[in-house]
Amino acid sequence: MGYGFLLLLILFHPFLPHSSGKPSGVCVSQGGRFAPFKSEGSPPKKGPKDLTLCWVFRKKTCCDIAHTHPALLSVRKLASTGEASQECLHLWELLECSICDPRVGTRPGPPLVCASLCERIFEACSNAYFSMDVKTQLLAPCGVNDFVCGRAAEWASNGTDLCAAAVFE
Ligand SMILES: *[C@@H]1O[C@H](CO)[C@@H](O)[C@H](O)[C@H]1NC(C)=O
Repeated sequence: MGYGFLLLLILFHPFLPHSSGKPSGVCVSQGGRFAPFKSEGSPPKKGPKDLTLCWVFRKKTCCDIAHTHPALLSVRKLASTGEASQECLHLWELLECSICDPRVGTRPGPPLVCASLCERIFEACSNAYFSMDVKTQLLAPCGVNDFVCGRAAEWASNGTDLCAAAVFE
């Protein structure tokens, strides 16, 4: 899976923003559902050894396990109860890991990703199940305790909407 993801990252690299707004050069917490960066105010640096996902950014990142663990849980949920395809899983992983990209993590949040990535997710994940958290009003992969799960197209009308519902801009 790690190997496939590397390949995917090379293929889909253009989906990540190259110069979004004005990156500050230092880690800026993304807010919302994302844990604050411990490296807040410092430049991105080599990630800790215990990152559970998003290894492609380990050489230079604002992330630690507090960010990669929720991302891992989200991808796992999408794989099991979400019944997602491999392509959907890879793209969702890329989306969840985008905050670990130093170009994203140094820009004030919410995390900015390319609309084309969101459109690809909307297509690849059209048969996967998501749910809307009642309290936070956030879209997330369907979990075992969620009563109302629906396919991507039932929650959003396009990729931009889908990403926004999961708090990516
Ligand atoms: C996505 O759908 C919303 C309405 O649900 C619309 O306002 C927006 O323009 C659409 N975006 C794109 C890129 O099609």
